[in-house]
Amino acid sequence: MTAYTPDALIADDIEAYLAQHQNKSLLRFITCGSVDDGKSTLIGRLLFDSRTIFEDQLASLEADSRRVGTQGQEIDFALLVDGLAAEREQGITIDVAYRFFSTERRKFIVADTPGHEQYTRNMVTGASTADLAVILIDARKGVLTQTRRHSYLAHLVGIRHIVLAVNKMDLVGYDRATFDAIVADYREFAAKIGIGEFTAIPLSGFRGDNVAGASENTPWYAGPSLIEHLESVEVDAARDAAGSFRMPVQWVNRPDLDFRGFAGLIAGGVVRPGDRVRVLPSGKVTSVARIVTLEGDLPQAVAGQSVTLTLADEVDCSRGDVIAAADAPPEVADQFEATIVWMADEELLPGRAYWLKLGTQTVSATVQAPKYQINVNTLEQLAAKTLELNAIGVATIATDRRIGFEPYEASKTLGGFILIDKLTNATVAAGMLNFALRRSQNVHWQATDVTRETRIALKNQQPAVLWFTGLSGAGKSTIANLVEKKLARMNRHTFLLDGDNVRHGLNKDLGFTDADRVENIRRVGEVARLMTDAGLIVITAFISPFRAEREMVRAMMAPGEFVEIHIDTPLAEAEARDVKGLYAKARAGALKNFTGIDSPYEPPEAPEIRIDTTAMTAEEAAELIVARLVP
Ligand code: ADX
Repeated sequence: MTAYTPDALIADDIEAYLAQHQNKSLLRFITCGSVDDGKSTLIGRLLFDSRTIFEDQLASLEADSRRVGTQGQEIDFALLVDGLAAEREQGITIDVAYRFFSTERRKFIVADTPGHEQYTRNMVTGASTADLAVILIDARKGVLTQTRRHSYLAHLVGIRHIVLAVNKMDLVGYDRATFDAIVADYREFAAKIGIGEFTAIPLSGFRGDNVAGASENTPWYAGPSLIEHLESVEVDAARDAAGSFRMPVQWVNRPDLDFRGFAGLIAGGVVRPGDRVRVLPSGKVTSVARIVTLEGDLPQAVAGQSVTLTLADEVDCSRGDVIAAADAPPEVADQFEATIVWMADEELLPGRAYWLKLGTQTVSATVQAPKYQINVNTLEQLAAKTLELNAIGVATIATDRRIGFEPYEASKTLGGFILIDKLTNATVAAGMLNFALRRSQNVHWQATDVTRETRIALKNQQPAVLWFTGLSGAGKSTIANLVEKKLARMNRHTFLLDGDNVRHGLNKDLGFTDADRVENIRRVGEVARLMTDAGLIVITAFISPFRAEREMVRAMMAPGEFVEIHIDTPLAEAEARDVKGLYAKARAGALKNFTGIDSPYEPPEAPEIRIDTTAMTAEEAAELIVARLVP
């Protein structure tokens, strides 16, 4: 799996840039389009017209333009922007590039992302923090498939301001009818996906028409120029500040016993000392005592500010919790409908546990098979069993504990999340919570009077899960069977779950694809867990080829309860034995996805017990295991 890390370098640049223009408001926007639409030229023009190009850069630009053969006096602004050599060679833009510029009234960060479908994840990354999207259209071509895809993605990630930049007006003779037809066409499409309003501007990035000021070439157009419009739209920060107070806790600051501060970046609203607040997910109510900053206490703080709050009462509150207005708190739930953009080369495995990072909380989460996938070009809903790189789908997500959240529409901070592969730490998806499933609110954990402890005491034993893993034919079932017999003789209460047997009943519906194996082990893990609650010593014999699922089951059990036993038989040996004749079939191509042949096996890195079956008999192995368990 390739790690996908959004441009990390930019953080420092942004800091430095922002420091210079402290008092102006900041607009983040994204430009969507391809090189053919004149996107790079338009960005170059924006930078130029806002006077951020320095003299020496200009000089080299003129030289460059000559080299590439742009004729005449015109400067090729695209050269300013298409910095990457690869881009120039291929004629495409390949990553998210961020640029800064400013005018008298505002400062800007523009994310320039590639337009091609295979770069959907880049666009989503760039767009997720943007206030506005400039959708570029070539006036000669009108609304294209990519225009629709870009608009859909921009709307999906919650961009509320759309600019339809009808570019290259010079090439259609500044014809009003052409412009009007494109706008009408776009309006019809936009309404379908929920974009109500947009601002259409006829312009020429190449000639500069309607970029900085009104153009004489379009006397029929009375609206703002692009820069004028960018200077005046409402930024998300202003909207966040108007909402209810929310602050995800970044860390708990406890320098000594007297001081306990909760530090974080305010995601919404305003806070003042004395305000009543609720801590989520616990729901405990208290009030704000002080707002502490390095420069002294504040009488109030608003969205966008980083502060440390102290609370009037000693309430439990740790990193990942959300402190919110007591009477208008976010919801708390553990099952959601979410829209997910898959960003990894390796496809989604429904049922696998990933880290879900939302706000400052990181929890374990599993995604169910998608309800549907969205064709980003036609917006059709398609049936899907998984999500592949750049696919967008809607699915149910379950977290292993309740979290404070808001629908993405209401809060990007508390509704936007990423999924992280637990083994590689790579970001595999970005997503938006749409709403909590009602079942998560309505299904409660039923407290029973006869508890796990009662059952354990009655059986007079410590429950455990002896998790056998290894290749088919390694000897798992044989050894597990002997272990169970020995334990039974010692009056231990046991239960053996065996792969071949469980697949005849509970998991009859599952085959041997990666996704089905993940689900097989998830269900077996859940059953094993119920059985440990019953006080049993559970013995499982499944190939369980993936580390991630074995670790997931381990995490479900009490500490020390999960005993991983690797029945380590080399493939050649298992194949030579071939008790069931399956290896022969697999080699002959009559059995697909066979573990060790054309389906992977990930051996445990640090199993509690490793059995080398080439060095001992099954009987000896069983004795060794029991001796380790019952010393
Ligand atoms: S697991 O990978 O999902 O853990 P499980 O242990 O339940 O597998 O089932 C493995 C058993 O199913 C094997 O011992 C073998 O008898 C049988 N089997 C049938 N087809 C396959 C296959 N393609 N790969 C592995 N085992 C298979």
